[in-house]
Parts: sequence; C-alpha cells; structure tokens
Amino acid sequence: MNIAITGASGLIGRMLVAHAASHGARLYPLVRRQAQLGTLEISWDPHLGVLAAADLEGMDAVVHLAGENLGSGRWTAARKARFRASRLQSTTLLCRALSQLRRPPEVLVVASAVGYYGDRGDVEVNEDTGPGRGFLAELVQAWEAAAGPARDMGIRVVHARFGIVLSRHGGALARQLPLFRWGLGGPLGSGHQYVSWIAATDAIGAVWQALHDATLNGPCNIVSPQPVTSAEFAGTLGRVLRRPVWLPAPAFALRLLLGDMADEALLVSTRVRPGCLLSAGYPFVCPELEAALRHELNR
Ligand SMILES: NC(=O)c1ccc[n+]([C@@H]2O[C@H](COP(=O)([O-])OP(=O)(O)OC[C@H]3O[C@@H](n4cnc5c(N)ncnc54)[C@H](OP(=O)(O)O)[C@@H]3O)[C@@H](O)[C@H]2O)c1
Repeated sequence: MNIAITGASGLIGRMLVAHAASHGARLYPLVRRQAQLGTLEISWDPHLGVLAAADLEGMDAVVHLAGENLGSGRWTAARKARFRASRLQSTTLLCRALSQLRRPPEVLVVASAVGYYGDRGDVEVNEDTGPGRGFLAELVQAWEAAAGPARDMGIRVVHARFGIVLSRHGGALARQLPLFRWGLGGPLGSGHQYVSWIAATDAIGAVWQALHDATLNGPCNIVSPQPVTSAEFAGTLGRVLRRPVWLPAPAFALRLLLGDMADEALLVSTRVRPGCLLSAGYPFVCPELEAALRHELNR
C-alpha cells in the first residue's frame, strides 16, 4: 500500500509511520521543506499553495494530519488564525491536487477532533450528533467541509475525530506528567466535565482500520468507549503514578493563563461514543483508562 501522509513529524504521524512501516506499507511524507534526495519525501507548501499533483499519482491512500498545534499555550487571535489557516489551506490544496490525478486514491483520512461537538455536559454524543458552538467547533466544521471536493470525486473520506490521544511522547498527557510527578496534578476546574480520550495504540489502530475498512466513511469518533470526568482522569493518573492528587486547577486561573483555550479545550465537557468504530468491530486494545495509562507509562 502506498500512503502519502502530511504532518508525519507530529505525535500521531510519527506513530503511524512506524506502524505502517512494520506492516509493509510504503509511506510518502509530505514535508514543508525541500524533500531529501533518496527518500520518499514529497515537498509541499500549504501556505503558498504549492504541491505538484503528479507527486501523488499512484497513492492508494492519503492521511492528512498537518495543522498548527492546538495544545501548546495561550490561544491568541494570531494563533487562532494560524490554527484555521493551517488546516483549511492544507486540506483545500490537498483536495485540489487529488482532483487532478488520473487514478485518485481510494481513501483520504483527514484528522479532525471531538471539539466538533462543543460543550455537551453529561449528554453522550455520537457521529450523528450535530456540531456544537465556539471557535473549535466552527473550525472543525470548516476543516471537515474543506475535504468536500475529495468526497465529491468519489474518494472515501474519513474524518478522524480524535479525542485526547494519550502518549508519554507528546500531547496533553506528556504536558501534564511533570506536574503529576511533582504531586501538583489535579482535576481541571470543577472536575465534573467529561474527557474523551484514546490510547495512542488505539488511535493508530483506528486510523489503520479506517484506511482498510470500506465500511468506515465520513465522521468517525476516535475515542475510547469509556470517557471519564476530569476528576476521574486526575485520580487515575495519580494512582498509576503513585502520587497524591489534591490540587484542582481553578477555572479562573486556567482562563487567565490560557485564554479561550481553557474553556474550549480543558473545561469543556464532551462525552463521546465511538459509534462507528464499535459498529465496525474495532478491537480496542485499551478501552479502560487505568489500563491505558499503565500501558503507555509502563507502570
Ligand atoms: N494529539 C491529539 O490528542 C489530537 C486530538 C484531536 C485532534 N488532533 C488533530 O490531529 C492532527 C494530528 O495531531 P498531532 O497530535 O500529531 O499534531 P502535532 O504533533 O501538533 O503535529 C502536527 C504536524 O502538522 C504539521 N504542522 C505544524 N504546524 C503547521 C502549520 N502551521 N501548517 C501546516 N502544517 C503544520 C507538522 O508536521 P510537518 O512539520 O511534518 O509538516 C506537525 O508535526 C492535528 O491536526 C490535531 O489537531 C490531535
């Protein structure tokens, strides 16, 4: 299988590249610099709109993960503009290139996020649920819509709506680990909000299934079937690390420190069901949080 992949240097991309290589697939990373000679790299510039369609000829699948990182600090107006531009421009460019191919790929898996659903309190949402409100929900809708031209061409497009991917190598878990190890970790805000998470191994397994399973089409929630509250998450992480958990991070402090990111990404309650993965019979390796954290942190 020939797979072109954007955002290959990111958290999910690195794991997917390793997984694909171990399964005999040939990976063609799209890089935002000069492609190195003697590699399968393909050069592109999503901001300047540069991508030679011919470079994608012969691909069986495309995985699009690229986008400015959402989790590393305060959301300013300038950063929000970059979050949006990096996702919309890149998706539009990729779809335009795909439309020029003699033989388009069978499937396009585009990263998306459970941020689509916005703040839903305790109500369980699935792929049939409509979008929520707020910057992130609107961004995710526009990001998914940008892949419309690929769908119109008859390509099977899967919107991988990731929950928080748990990895010790990066993302939300890696950012929290130092605080928890110092005994300073705790629930965020009230701690009542739902956190929809996915073990790194299942995030990659689910994307792999999306690439191969023609029944997966359209939005696909990539989350564990057992979401937890922020308080349960903190308690479980503390137990796994054998550290006390007693210090909640007050909502006002998070808002002061992180701006809109606090409400949109940390205090938001989204209880997501992986409806499509369950219907497709995806065999979750780590459906339960404590086992997932022990697996990821070797505890
Ligand atoms: N990790 C999670 O928990 C999670 C949850 C929900 C949704 N997602 C979404 O899934 C996708 C992949 O996640 P990830 O955790 O692997 O992200 P990541 O570690 O931040 O990596 C994203 C990659 O995108 C490329 N990139 C960065 N800034 C860019 C820009 N301004 N314009 C174009 N490309 C840019 C980079 O790859 P190159 O340098 O190789 O181009 C980067 O390595 C992201 O779109 C993310 O929003 C992730």
